[in-house]
Amino acid sequence: MSLFKVSRPATWQACVSCGEEFLESQPVTRCGCGGLLEVRHRGIDASPAELQAAFRTRHQSVEGPYRSGVWRYRELVLPSAPADMIVTHPEGNTPLLERATVTSWTGLEFLRMKHEGHNPTGSFKDRGMTVGVTQARRANARAVACASTGNTAASMAAYAAQATLPAFVLIPRGGVSVGKLAQIHAYGASVIEVLGDFDDCLRVLEAVAPSLDIYLLNSINPFRVEGQKTVVYDLLDQLDWDPPEWIVFPAGNLGNTAAFGKALEEAFSWGLIPRLPRLAAIQAAGAAPFAAGFREGFARRHRVRAETIATAIRIGDPASWDRARVSIERTNGVVTTVTDEQILAAKRVVDHSGVGCEPASAASIAGARRLREEGLISRDDRVVAVLTGHILKDPGAILDDAEGPRVVAVEPTTEAVTRAIMTS
Ligand code: F0G
Repeated sequence: MSLFKVSRPATWQACVSCGEEFLESQPVTRCGCGGLLEVRHRGIDASPAELQAAFRTRHQSVEGPYRSGVWRYRELVLPSAPADMIVTHPEGNTPLLERATVTSWTGLEFLRMKHEGHNPTGSFKDRGMTVGVTQARRANARAVACASTGNTAASMAAYAAQATLPAFVLIPRGGVSVGKLAQIHAYGASVIEVLGDFDDCLRVLEAVAPSLDIYLLNSINPFRVEGQKTVVYDLLDQLDWDPPEWIVFPAGNLGNTAAFGKALEEAFSWGLIPRLPRLAAIQAAGAAPFAAGFREGFARRHRVRAETIATAIRIGDPASWDRARVSIERTNGVVTTVTDEQILAAKRVVDHSGVGCEPASAASIAGARRLREEGLISRDDRVVAVLTGHILKDPGAILDDAEGPRVVAVEPTTEAVTRAIMTS
């Protein structure tokens, strides 16, 4: 259904392929033409300085939705959501960290890590999920569902529990780390293990969701993207709206790539930032269809059978390709790859700095190092790398790392313990 221009409300949905428009309240996940949808907002009736001041003031809130590092940017996210409908933990307001050992390993002078593992379920997914589940509630959804490599599912399960909505999760059997698996079960979601990969899970779920009247909460859902934009707003706020030259982050299903580009374009067009940072999307070498597309100027869409130790981004047919491509092109961005060895090396550096992250997140740091070595990022460029998930999400990656823990087992005697300490 198209909107009449005269009655156009403050927020609506539009197809990024054909431009067809939908009401904000319509629970559609794709346009009839097959294109992805995006949420659009009409201009905001406040100056950039007024908005920036309001975002900061709300940060001091002790109750209500403005405690959230998503909803304090409400005007940029979902202005129409009534406060009593918002399902918030709260989330966001994650730290922007600096560690000298990590900075010097990348060869940079200015590196900050935006640690999204500090979100309530341990990943950036909570930012999109607070908006997605709020929207599910506004649409009177009967149940919610997602396909996932683990983090989306854990996040959706938690927010659905808070909203008392049944949650269905499709995950690739054997493809989800133990930390995430435990979370999904603990929050009470119904888990369906699919004998296939993530791409199979999403393909099948998209096909069945409409007929089962289930609200789909993968990142093709445009409201999830609105929430994930706030990773960028949070880090810009922390840098006093003086944008870095680069934002570097791991890319799998490309929801974040889509969200970050949209966040930046909107921040620029609303006068919140004077220039656009460049986006650098980093894929695991064994799961890099988007990087292959980028090398060819996005002449065609690539699909691969994905394999990488970073299970979160083991994705071969990313759903948000079209929106992500726009993000890379409009920010003069780049897409590159890092090997599993480079991911693990970066993870050891981040972990040993006391910060810690899951393997997919370490792709950001490995990617920053690669782009610095290749000279694309200059030594004095200011770089923010997004760490997408918490260190405990994937304990197996630490314990199985050949260069990882060195365990000494001893008898319970003073001599044995003394010897163990002296020889360590
Ligand atoms: N980092 C982590 C820790 C993730 O869990 C994901 C995606 C990404 C990066 C990639 O982000 O898909 O927006 O490009 N995880 C999804 C999931 C696929 O199901 O949890 P993206």
